[in-house]
Amino acid sequence: MILNNLEDHFGETVNLDPETRIHISEYLNTHSADLSPAKISRKIVKSIGNTTPLRITKTPYFMHKHHEIQDTMLNRKSIGSLSNCLACHSTAEDGIYDDDNARIPR
Ligand code: HEC
Repeated sequence: MILNNLEDHFGETVNLDPETRIHISEYLNTHSADLSPAKISRKIVKSIGNTTPLRITKTPYFMHKHHEIQDTMLNRKSIGSLSNCLACHSTAEDGIYDDDNARIPR
């Protein structure tokens, strides 16, 4: 599990106090896509099959939905990377990723 190797978290060291680590662990264990009844979560789980991608951006469902987004767009200061969901999904903080609300900023 990723939380067990925070000395090398995608090349960075992450320092968490024990309380925060437990909080994050509990969140992940209760909110993972395979436990969610949400339609998009079920599609993500279905798309990964038996694999365990380390990033949501590497799941086939996600890659399919974002295949039209080019690297030159991601280089914009307003975006930075595909992990910056909020840059294009203004309602991301409420867990809403509807394609109607998605807008790629300049
Ligand atoms: C550069 C802009 C951009 C970023 C960053 C981005 N998205 Fe998207 N996303 C879009 C666009 C545009 C669409 C709509 C694609 C379409 O309609 O074909 C979309 C579609 C989606 C959909 C499908 C919605 C539907 O109703 O079919 C989901 C889920 C989603 N994004 C989740 C995320 C998550 C989670 C992140 C961050 C890890 C993220 N996106 C980052 C632009 C972005």
